[in-house]
Amino acid sequence: MNIVILTGAGISAESGLETFRAEAGLWDGYQIEDVCTPGAFARAPDRVCQFYDERKLLATQAQPNAAHLALADLEGFWQEHRRGDFLLVTQNVDDLHERAGSHNLIHMHGALNSTYCIDCGYHGPRFNALEDDRECPSCGRDMLRPDIVFFGETPRSLPKIYEALRACDVFVAIGTSGQVYPAADFVQMANSFGARTVLVNLELHGGGAVFDDCQIGNATDVVPRWAAGMMI
Ligand code: APR
Ligand code: ZN
Repeated sequence: MNIVILTGAGISAESGLETFRAEAGLWDGYQIEDVCTPGAFARAPDRVCQFYDERKLLATQAQPNAAHLALADLEGFWQEHRRGDFLLVTQNVDDLHERAGSHNLIHMHGALNSTYCIDCGYHGPRFNALEDDRECPSCGRDMLRPDIVFFGETPRSLPKIYEALRACDVFVAIGTSGQVYPAADFVQMANSFGARTVLVNLELHGGGAVFDDCQIGNATDVVPRWAAGMMI
């Protein structure tokens, strides 16, 4: 049995990290066009770096929660008992899945703890702030940017994600409002390939109707229970 899991900001909410579209969420306090578009970066790179530096600091101070840990346990169980393929796709840029022990993981919207150079293509880890310090270790030019997929840019590893969706038997979306594409389309793809589709979310949203099963509640309650039911 092959599993594909998609997570969104909701899985990190109980670790204290803000989601985007809740009341007073991130997109309430900031304009997307000021901090998360190529144009914003071209106009004011240090402003964009400051936004992601702040989120990087908050993520560093956060801890993986029971939902992150349950997914890492399930991945380990799936591999140990050779139950099939397991792929975790996250829209999140925090590193809580890694710190929980997940391995087969794709950050489709990028990651806070890495950077790349828009001039020479250097790509590497970056744990300290980028604002006011964007010198590329490879070419020496001040051309480093956050390794984040801005709106209007292409998410990462889509061919690998689509290949996994074609082969999956169970697709689970956890803590995502299903408003951003192409991630919001994954459930339809999984449905079309005959997978069983499960939504785990704090509230039922418009996209809920396309899932076979909707488990409403906090991720730290629902995910460990769901994962335990898979590990038998
Ligand atoms: N447990 C489960 N679900 C939760 C919890 C929780 N404790 N808290 C919030 N949620 C749910 C909310 O009900 C909401 O449906 O998580 C979802 C978060 O939705 P968004 O804030 O829209 O975040 P997300 O779906 O990850 O956004 C997708 O949009 O702005 C871009 O790149 C950004 O990756 C992000 C993408
Ligand atoms: Zn460079």
